[in-house]
Amino acid sequence: MENEFDLIVIGGGPGGYVCAIRAAQLGLKTACVESRGTLGGTCLNVGCIPSKSLLNLSENYAKAKNDFNLQGIEISDLKLNVKKMMSNKDKSVQILTKGVEFLFKKNKVTYLKGKGEFKNKNEIQVSNEKEKKTYKSKNIVIATGSMHTNIPGVNIDEKNIISSTGALSLEKVPKSMIVIGGGYIGLEMGSVWSRLGSKVTVLEYLDHITPGMDREISNEFKKILSKQGIEFKLNSKVLSVKKSGTNVNVNYEDILSKAKKEIISEKVLISVGRKPFTSGLHLDKAGVKTDLKGRVEVNTKLQTNVKNIFAIGDVIKGPMLAHKAEEEGIAVAEILAGQAGHVNYDVIPGVIYTSPEVAAVGKTEEELKKENINYKIGKFPFLANSRAKVNNETEGFVKILANSETDKVLGVHIIGPHSGDMIAEMAIAMEFGASSEDIARTCHAHPTHTEAIKEAALAVDKRPIHF
Ligand code: NAI
Repeated sequence: MENEFDLIVIGGGPGGYVCAIRAAQLGLKTACVESRGTLGGTCLNVGCIPSKSLLNLSENYAKAKNDFNLQGIEISDLKLNVKKMMSNKDKSVQILTKGVEFLFKKNKVTYLKGKGEFKNKNEIQVSNEKEKKTYKSKNIVIATGSMHTNIPGVNIDEKNIISSTGALSLEKVPKSMIVIGGGYIGLEMGSVWSRLGSKVTVLEYLDHITPGMDREISNEFKKILSKQGIEFKLNSKVLSVKKSGTNVNVNYEDILSKAKKEIISEKVLISVGRKPFTSGLHLDKAGVKTDLKGRVEVNTKLQTNVKNIFAIGDVIKGPMLAHKAEEEGIAVAEILAGQAGHVNYDVIPGVIYTSPEVAAVGKTEEELKKENINYKIGKFPFLANSRAKVNNETEGFVKILANSETDKVLGVHIIGPHSGDMIAEMAIAMEFGASSEDIARTCHAHPTHTEAIKEAALAVDKRPIHF
């Protein structure tokens, strides 16, 4: 029975590996198929983790270059070593991917190395350079993630015209970089290379950056990034991206004036979104349906149209976020073990790890208006927060949206220092159905950035103390 399992998970990213570990913890005989050679998926290998390493290192460099002298820390011979930076990043990635392999061993998850594909609804063939083997399983979870989308006709060579993967391993700082798409990836990677010295220009199709984000926060975010030296060209429709010698020419149309324009730069980063990845899986052999966007269709139990096959993470609908995939992975494992697995999609935090960070959970003002929900707003600027002030990190604010009648917190949006960590407090508050008064009456340690949250909650009732 060596080749038979209770559960085979296809894909070893944060959705898949977490699902496999939880299922094994619950006593299911579990295997996870992964073809990359290392576990952790896009997130650990070429996404969240390496980008956070470069964001941290480049932020340190920018601080040392721009701020330290003003703060009495004088550095006279500051040097940037991109090669060392990259190897530091690679080491962190290696340690973390090996860590997942260790967790598989610890939890007795069988790691099947190779590319998985459906033979039928209960059989998965795994192929690698050495062999092709077929495994049987009562249940199967599709956790194959997503891949970058492209602009029609553009050839991403990962040298001059790059995706996020290429942007994570440039050998030197390019003189200039055009970022196409002002979303999560474009702004995080644009920030990295801008801080290291590249002239970064973001071309965005819409009239604002970061679609889906609370508009007031998005506007403030653009202002702050512009001050840091990133140039934005909004309402810009890219027509072509072509390599020319060592540079790349980008032709675009200004949507408002209809004028055709051209800009040239050393590198062009294409960051116009991601799409579900199911190629080569042979979903048809199992009879699994996808929707018009190529996403695997699931019900509220994350079950596909084929009863014993489930899907989680970027390959299904919803935000393409590692932590959303993890929650879904745990929910499926618990459902399969007879428990009540569940994901609360109303409380999925989102963070952009720029400086300052931008973090949100729950509804935006625009969503509340659209849904005709009456709300109150409480805002508090970091300028009036003592800890932010002493740390010279005063940009941004906290914004809490609460129901006008019940005072229940409906959404929290923060642009400011450490907001990516602080948003967890708000996610918990929302999971417990907190009112803004609950937050306002909770003692927050002084002096911390979290006091800005308490003050914003007080501001919902128009009674902040420090502003
Ligand atoms: P995105 O959907 O966040 O942003 C893409 C942007 O490109 C949008 O603003 C869109 O209007 C613009 N765009 C699309 N086509 C265009 C064109 N032809 N010309 C100009 N602009 C165009 O996608 P992104 O940044 O590629 O990220 C992909 C996924 O990865 C997202 O779902 C994101 O949530 C996830 N991600 C999350 C991170 C985090 O949690 N910190 C970090 C990086 C990625």
